Amino acid sequence: MRTIQHRKRIAIYPGTFDPITNGHLDILARASQIFDEIIVALVENTTKSTMFSLLERHHFLKQAVAARAFGCPVRVETFKGLLVDFAKRKKAPIIVRGLRAVSDFEYEFQMALMNRHQSAQIETVFLMPDEKYVYLSSSMVKEVGHHQGNLKSFLPKPVLMAIREKLRHRT
Ligand code: PNS
Repeated sequence: MRTIQHRKRIAIYPGTFDPITNGHLDILARASQIFDEIIVALVENTTKSTMFSLLERHHFLKQAVAARAFGCPVRVETFKGLLVDFAKRKKAPIIVRGLRAVSDFEYEFQMALMNRHQSAQIETVFLMPDEKYVYLSSSMVKEVGHHQGNLKSFLPKPVLMAIREKLRHRT
């Protein structure tokens, strides 16, 4: 009798992660209940100007991922070039993105369709975070951090400490 081989569903969770927030971790936890393996893909060649260096962001990601239990194996990697090419190299047909408010939609829609145009085999899947993270973004975190605001419930502890430290030296 022939058995049907279940192919491992590998998903990519890409981003700039400047820095990783509890909102990102919430999406990751949800995705880990759906897929068999997740690769958190930190982009190397971003056009955005970042607060944290690639090395710092990579370190925070690894630390934050290692500190949590997920529903499937999760690993952190960096990539250069097109996301779909990275996904193909990793044999991952799924891209996971978090969708918070309607304001995310336009950008995410554009990106998903552009990625589909580059590679029709790769599908983008959107997940919604817990309501408490709907208005959370890395840029908001940096802005609030800059004004010494309260970020305790939004960031993994090492990131919280690093952001305070970085901004202390800036002012
Ligand atoms: O966290 P971000 O900044 O919204 O993530 C954006 C990211 C890294 C997913 C996107 O910029 C990306 O995929 N960059 C790699 C280059 C690429 O493939 N661009 C085409 C998609 S628009």
